[in-house]
Amino acid sequence: MERLQKVIARSGIASRRKAEELILNGKVKVDGKVILELGTKVSENSKVEVNGVLISKEDKVYYLLNKPRGVITSTKDEHNRKTVVDLIEEDKRIYPVGRLDYDTTGIILLTNDGELSNLLMHPKNEIDKVYIAKIKGIILPKDLMQLKSGVIIDGRKTKKARVKLKKIDKINNTSIVELTIHEGRNHQVKKMFESIGYEVLKLKREKIAFLDLSGLKSGEYRKLNPKEVKKLYAIESEKQ
Ligand code: URA
Repeated sequence: MERLQKVIARSGIASRRKAEELILNGKVKVDGKVILELGTKVSENSKVEVNGVLISKEDKVYYLLNKPRGVITSTKDEHNRKTVVDLIEEDKRIYPVGRLDYDTTGIILLTNDGELSNLLMHPKNEIDKVYIAKIKGIILPKDLMQLKSGVIIDGRKTKKARVKLKKIDKINNTSIVELTIHEGRNHQVKKMFESIGYEVLKLKREKIAFLDLSGLKSGEYRKLNPKEVKKLYAIESEKQ
């Protein structure tokens, strides 16, 4: 929900102050009713008319970012740290789909499309996310099996995961494990490893559904193409 004068101003037809004047003068209708009160909250789906003309909805934009370490997944930070939104040159108000920790790197989507964002985050759609974790210690086969079948974090068992051991480094006493999950619980990957006694030293998300980081160095981003957006929307119908 957003303030009416802000919605009008963002459509580009008037400044915020002019939008307020239009409202006070009875020139603005929301879903067919004249609204005279400033600050009235309207939803994304509300029909807003100014002088009898429907204002156009903002174009939707979709970005895929290779998030560097040390950037916060949020639109604003109270400690003035750099956010993922700061990395993208875009005038429209975009926000990240889901979260990556401050020290996690890799793929993250940003958009102003609330519908697609909800679809991607809804557990029923079971969107696969592939993570590569570097962990302390040489992981045992029985622990890999545990991750696969589910471990208890925050009092609840995780859903089945796909697990691949990528590398063991006996000299440095580390292992690299690929983990594919479709849940999005808070700090899920780190907690999964912790629950079986391993510390995650580094974490990178490499894939979301069919999207990966091809051609993008750390900090780089690109727009999704219309085919990719369509394919993401299609995931929902495939799951029904
Ligand atoms: N799981 C984590 O623990 N951290 C992330 O950033 C993403 C998934």
